[in-house]
Amino acid sequence: MSDSDDEVPQLSAETMAALQEFYSSQAKTQSSESESQGSNISENWNLSQFWYDEVTSDILAKEALEVAGESGRIACVSSPTLYQKLQQVKPPSCTTILLEFDKRFSVYGDDFVFYDYNAPLELSNLQQHSFDVVIADPPYLAEECLKKTAQTIKYLTKGKIILCTGAVMLEIAQDLLGVTVCPFIPHHTRNLANEFRCYANFQTHFLNTDNR
Ligand SMILES: C[S@@+](CC[C@H](N)C(=O)[O-])C[C@H]1O[C@@H](n2cnc3c(N)ncnc32)[C@H](O)[C@@H]1O
Repeated sequence: MSDSDDEVPQLSAETMAALQEFYSSQAKTQSSESESQGSNISENWNLSQFWYDEVTSDILAKEALEVAGESGRIACVSSPTLYQKLQQVKPPSCTTILLEFDKRFSVYGDDFVFYDYNAPLELSNLQQHSFDVVIADPPYLAEECLKKTAQTIKYLTKGKIILCTGAVMLEIAQDLLGVTVCPFIPHHTRNLANEFRCYANFQTHFLNTDNR
């Protein structure tokens, strides 16, 4: 072995530049792939996290945008994959926020508002009746949880409400929020034991189709 065999091989400046360009274009491709695939934040079942499938988040986002309009304001309550879908499809003039308990979603900066349904009106500095539409998907199929989430929804909305929760919550949801069940059935990336439904308090465009 000669001395030079022990040395770290040196790359020429041209080869280094070519390598750097390759790694940087690879990083860009990977980041746009993960954006188009939706959430790369995994479900934590202890927090009752069940993510919508692609079709469901897409339809909900379309409905929210239809209601809010180009420069509207949309609040996603405990519905992070809807918030993420909206980032892909909304015009820049449309405002969206995510109220969420899971602090992993604080990666969304000022759009993230820490939210615990047990303190339904602790909402940072959010103004009353300042969102064109509020979409909520509370963590538990329990009256107490829906009652408290309903307080938040009513505080934030100018009027329009979309709720995604279990079919068993129908009567309580009607009483608390004046919503009715929509023909569109929300689906999740995993099959859940409970039947889920979308509810709204207005005539919807995209949630009006029975997709069973
Ligand atoms: C049934 S999942 C709804 C997620 C929705 N399907 C989606 O894909 O965006 C319930 C959501 O409630 C959140 N959550 C858990 N505990 C909470 C709490 N104490 N207060 C408010 N939200 C909570 C979870 O992190 C989760 O995002």
